[in-house]
Amino acid sequence: MPLPVPVLPEGVDPAWLPPAAFRAVGGRRTLIRGSGPLVETVHGEMAEACRRFGGRVVRDASDDGPYDLVLAVSAGDLGEEGFTVVREGGTTTVTASGGRGLLYGLFHVVRLGAAAFTGERSQETHRPALATRMLDHWDNVAVHPVMGQVERGYAGGSLFWEDGRARGDLQRVRAYGRLLAACGINAISVNNVNVHATEARLLTDRIGEVAEIAGALRPYGIRTHLSVSFAAPIVLGGLSTADPLEAAVRSWWAEATRRVYEAVPDFGGYVVKADSEGQPGPFAYGRSHADGANMLAAALEPFGGTVHWRAFVYDHRQDWRDRSTDRARAAYDHFVPLDGEFAPNAVLQVKHGPMDFQVREPVSPLIGAMPRTRLAVELQVTQEYTGQQRHVCWLGPMWSEVLRFRPEERSVGALARGGLVAVSNAGDDPFWTGHPLAQANLYTYGRLAWQPDAEPREVLDEWIGLSFPDAPARLADGLHAVLDGSWRTYEKYTAPLGVGFMVQPGHHYGPSVDGYEYSPWGTYHFADRDGIGVDRSAATGTGYAGQYAKPWAEVYESPDTCPDELLLFFHHVSYGHTLTSGKTVIQHIYDTHFDGVEEVEAAREVWAGLVDLVDPARHTRVTELFEEQLRSAREWRDQVNSYFFRKSGVPDAHGRRIY
Ligand code: GCU
Repeated sequence: MPLPVPVLPEGVDPAWLPPAAFRAVGGRRTLIRGSGPLVETVHGEMAEACRRFGGRVVRDASDDGPYDLVLAVSAGDLGEEGFTVVREGGTTTVTASGGRGLLYGLFHVVRLGAAAFTGERSQETHRPALATRMLDHWDNVAVHPVMGQVERGYAGGSLFWEDGRARGDLQRVRAYGRLLAACGINAISVNNVNVHATEARLLTDRIGEVAEIAGALRPYGIRTHLSVSFAAPIVLGGLSTADPLEAAVRSWWAEATRRVYEAVPDFGGYVVKADSEGQPGPFAYGRSHADGANMLAAALEPFGGTVHWRAFVYDHRQDWRDRSTDRARAAYDHFVPLDGEFAPNAVLQVKHGPMDFQVREPVSPLIGAMPRTRLAVELQVTQEYTGQQRHVCWLGPMWSEVLRFRPEERSVGALARGGLVAVSNAGDDPFWTGHPLAQANLYTYGRLAWQPDAEPREVLDEWIGLSFPDAPARLADGLHAVLDGSWRTYEKYTAPLGVGFMVQPGHHYGPSVDGYEYSPWGTYHFADRDGIGVDRSAATGTGYAGQYAKPWAEVYESPDTCPDELLLFFHHVSYGHTLTSGKTVIQHIYDTHFDGVEEVEAAREVWAGLVDLVDPARHTRVTELFEEQLRSAREWRDQVNSYFFRKSGVPDAHGRRIY
């Protein structure tokens, strides 16, 4: 039986799957061959498209057509998710070895649109580069008094949880799974990495709710994972210890995990934030993080599950007077000595940069330094530090730089054997992502997880083509003008040259140059009247630069070779220091901040000019958000420029107004 396509609740934006995106496939004669649950999903998709656009879909016919489109599962070596596409003699044929591959193949044809049905097409094979393409939702079941329901969420409440339990109506969760499958995502963790008391119970007596959500995501090939508390044996099991080497603790986890699989047979595994920002972990028992991760890996192993163990471990009670402790070093210092000790089904999940999702960071030196460990790289699609979905900031170019970076001969995308993971930016907002244009970030993330060396601008073209079918070139050009450079624009008007932070403490929105300067969080810029930046060189600084392999250790070691955009991350320099661009640091700060605001003004104008091409609700929402972005960008410009003018006493070479 074909599975009906999920119906979007009234008023919810179809994002990159509006009905019109299926016009090209929906008007054809299609044959589907194969069996299994995901083939029913494919059939449901085709049935709905044909209902709208007048085509016809036939299942497992014995004759050979003629058909315009054949979607066939047949034994082969394409893996669970791969597919081939070929067009010969007027028939486009997608072949996959399994239902999931067929679903991805169908969405590929949808993306191609009319082009999938013209001319001839020699056979192409598509396979995801990374087997795990995951979203972590930082959602709480209960509304947290400080963080709200979704920690660092800027798109309303949770898609999964409402009124203290799993939503009764999961239609929208089904539709979410469908959107994610269309960009290649295949795993979701459904609760916050900071596991509070209510959420801890999802592992045990509330696992039924997780099973309901898993059931809604499964038809689109998405496996469900859960964040768990390392202290679960104590807080849920009544044991006196959570020591990972203690037999009672190990059997508690084994039994809890067995029950999880009873409820969710295809459960993906656990996500763990341990010994990090106050979360419990193995350090309390004098055990290593490999001991902790391996205990959970052992519990999951009989069922084929994976533990995603986060490497975000650092001292968050640092003394700002202590210049020898460097938060950037922490993950490497903790984890590199454990290389080779993690179980095969333990994945070490590493943030892409050494600090915390700033607009500009070097790639974490951990990536490439643990050859005997499966690493997953974690990105932040939710825009905690990049404008909180009130600012346009398309992160495709940044992620692409990270994924293409080569810590050694291989790129980050190739080294991420454990997959790509990202913190989701979606919530129950009618546009899913608060800022309607932030949908592009979610889409781009999925596509880069499938193919880390994809050209981000081409991914954006896909997103535009799907989200705005039939868009005239002027709309596509306008969207590119607004989005393409938006990350660099954001970088220009916020913290300069890789130094990071300078945000309002706590919620992290808006400027506060010294907001974290004297705090315990380990995020300092060390600006004084003479200069700014953190000396992380091996020769005179914290030694962080030395954590990289060659050539990067040498490149970063000296301010003469360090790339401008990371200069203040690696070095403390005077305001008069000349960048490779030829500008002084202080003049660079002034110029980028003036330019950044002008770029926001220009983007706002472009958007205003698209009013006749974009539906009114979307156009109005983005217009309103541009007002806020501009206000905020000016605030950033003025606070940052004034701060450094007052510290340095150096006037702007162009005599512009600095307060
Ligand atoms: C950031 C973020 C926290 C989050 C943490 C993490 O510090 O501000 O809200 O819990 O990252 O990734 O664990």
